[in-house]
Amino acid sequence: MTQLLTLDDYETAARERVPHSVYEFMAAGAADENTLRWNREAFARIKLRPRVLEDVAEIDTRITLFGRTYAHPIFLAPVAYQRTMHDEGEAAAARGANGAVFVVSTASNCPIEEIASAATGPIWLQIYLQNDRELSRDLVRRAEAAGCEAFALTVDTPVLGTRNRQQRSGFKIPPHVPTPHLDDVGRARLSADSNERGPITWKDFQWLRGITSLPILLKGILTGDDAARAIDEGAAGVMVSNHGARNLDTVPATIDALPEVVERVEGRVPILFDGGVRRGTDIVKAIAFGASAVLIGRPYVY
Ligand code: FNR
Repeated sequence: MTQLLTLDDYETAARERVPHSVYEFMAAGAADENTLRWNREAFARIKLRPRVLEDVAEIDTRITLFGRTYAHPIFLAPVAYQRTMHDEGEAAAARGANGAVFVVSTASNCPIEEIASAATGPIWLQIYLQNDRELSRDLVRRAEAAGCEAFALTVDTPVLGTRNRQQRSGFKIPPHVPTPHLDDVGRARLSADSNERGPITWKDFQWLRGITSLPILLKGILTGDDAARAIDEGAAGVMVSNHGARNLDTVPATIDALPEVVERVEGRVPILFDGGVRRGTDIVKAIAFGASAVLIGRPYVY
């Protein structure tokens, strides 16, 4: 039995426990996995500059975001198909969130209502717009009725990434695992070897803004230009993310992209951050660079 001391230890333990193709689905990055490696390496390259003899007897990790106070700046990123990894799927993750925001994926296996009633912290919903917009409208309504507090519109997935490692493993969404928020087109689009497209544009963001008054963050911003446009278009926040390096290989490590975004956002909206966060020092670095909070994806699923 692996001793579970670090988040990487959970990965090792998970690999021993779940079917090989499911592990590959979780762990894989896109193409040659350069960005997957960089997400971690870039953190390791940034050196801390310690100051001594500061009074650290009292430490306060609390943050305030959209009017709510959180005990710490660590949230749970949306991860699809969690019942491939555990029978209770997203409901169990929501229960374990323990006060942290749990961002529910559109491609969750548990219905949003079940997740919300299991939740021990606020629920946000990640949105993949469906080709049939009425389905998306219906999901937004259901999320609002279930008490969801914000939406994260994923903007980095007009097509699914080329995940060669996942393809090699033969991963398929098991037929017995439901995707209650996706129609057949949406399910096909997000399957392992799909070429289906679901392009979205700034117009679609405006459509979403038109059907809800909850805050909408744009998830998958990597440039200052897009961050500035997101604010002009009415985004309540941006999430600097490269989708855990699963979509487009050779985009920058998120911690390398963060300073450019911070510079253009100029404190006007909160900046959330994910990609390769595995240590407290990673979080210190992201916050020192200007993030309000970080999200973790793979580690909580492991
Ligand atoms: C994801 N991610 C993701 N993002 C999203 O917007 N919608 C989704 O359905 C999914 N699904 C998904 C499945 C799996 C297995 C993984 C690993 C990731 C991306 C996720 O929200 C987040 O951006 C990254 O996982 C963060 O990087 P780390 O913490 O995994 O390194």
